[in-house]
Amino acid sequence: MNSKTIKILIAILTIIAISIILIVILIPKKVENTPNEPSKYSEKATKILKDKDIFKEVDKLDYSKTLEVLLEENKFIDKYLDDYTKIDYKEIDDFSNTINTLLNKDYTYQEINYILNNYLSNIDILLNMKHINILEFKDITNFDINKLERYLKYNEDNDYDLKTVVTYVNIGLDLEGYSEYKTYTLEEAKDITILVNKYHKLPDDYEPDDLVSLSYNENYKLRKEAAEAFEKLTNAGILENVIFYPFSPYRSFATQNILYNRYKQVDGEKVADTYSARPGFSEHQLGLAVDVRSSNLSDNLTTEHYNWMLENSYKYGFIIRYPKGKQHITQYIEEPWHIRYLGTELATKVHDSGLTYDEYYDIYMENR
Ligand code: DAL
Ligand code: ZN
Repeated sequence: MNSKTIKILIAILTIIAISIILIVILIPKKVENTPNEPSKYSEKATKILKDKDIFKEVDKLDYSKTLEVLLEENKFIDKYLDDYTKIDYKEIDDFSNTINTLLNKDYTYQEINYILNNYLSNIDILLNMKHINILEFKDITNFDINKLERYLKYNEDNDYDLKTVVTYVNIGLDLEGYSEYKTYTLEEAKDITILVNKYHKLPDDYEPDDLVSLSYNENYKLRKEAAEAFEKLTNAGILENVIFYPFSPYRSFATQNILYNRYKQVDGEKVADTYSARPGFSEHQLGLAVDVRSSNLSDNLTTEHYNWMLENSYKYGFIIRYPKGKQHITQYIEEPWHIRYLGTELATKVHDSGLTYDEYYDIYMENR
């Protein structure tokens, strides 16, 4: 090998060596120096993520406004990173603190998204109490978050399923009858479908303006529509040899007052309350309720007539308002004789639902 060849060899080896050095040292640097896609996050957020050494991890994920806002506001808590990226951002005051408070209460991101989408305007209720399984109420259409504490309490004290708890509390059954009630306006009282019970009162001076006499006795009155329906119901019964008569139709506030106080004197308030409404709380004041008796009884229906009524009265717009086994809901003992006019369409729906009117009203009518 002459010296020229050696020189060439050395030159080649040097070039290879330099190349290797370049490859080893410079190329990775070059990769690192390649400008990234611009960060999805603000400068401040990006910097915090990089300082925490989680930028790459986060940058791989879809952009999260929630995460950015938490970082921007210095409210980011490391252990909630994953949750932040899955929580939908909402334009509300104090978003960051709200989210952190909920996460602190062990709400999952799914629950938080549900809360943000459904209860934003009532969120304080949830922020001020311990974690609740909010998703359990998801399909309960008559759930009212303002009554949440009452549901939880009632649920603790009773064995009902959650749906029943919601309905019963909405009716007011967690409270003593008459302790809290809504008083209707004179205008509202005219509505044929109105619910009257121990939690819904009529104005003392409400008197229907369309009362008409029943053919059975001209002193017995009902509102016109109910009176006409009652005649049809009576006639339908006659055709099937089910003969019954009205014995207590419309009663004014004053009449109900006398009646109730008489019962109270005889039986005491507690017992009287199980079968007589206090004045202002009776459907009889609506002119839409009537007590009926079988031809051979003084104040009740025979079982046969009662069964006929159960199967047919709704077709004429009447429901049995205080059925057997429902005293814990209606707050009255069974009254086979007391029928309430609602109109054919609604009476049919209530009949088909198998619910008391108190329940039906809350589930399908209240606030709808
Ligand atoms: N007996 C019913 C409940 C009333 O007094 O209206
Ligand atoms: Zn009655």
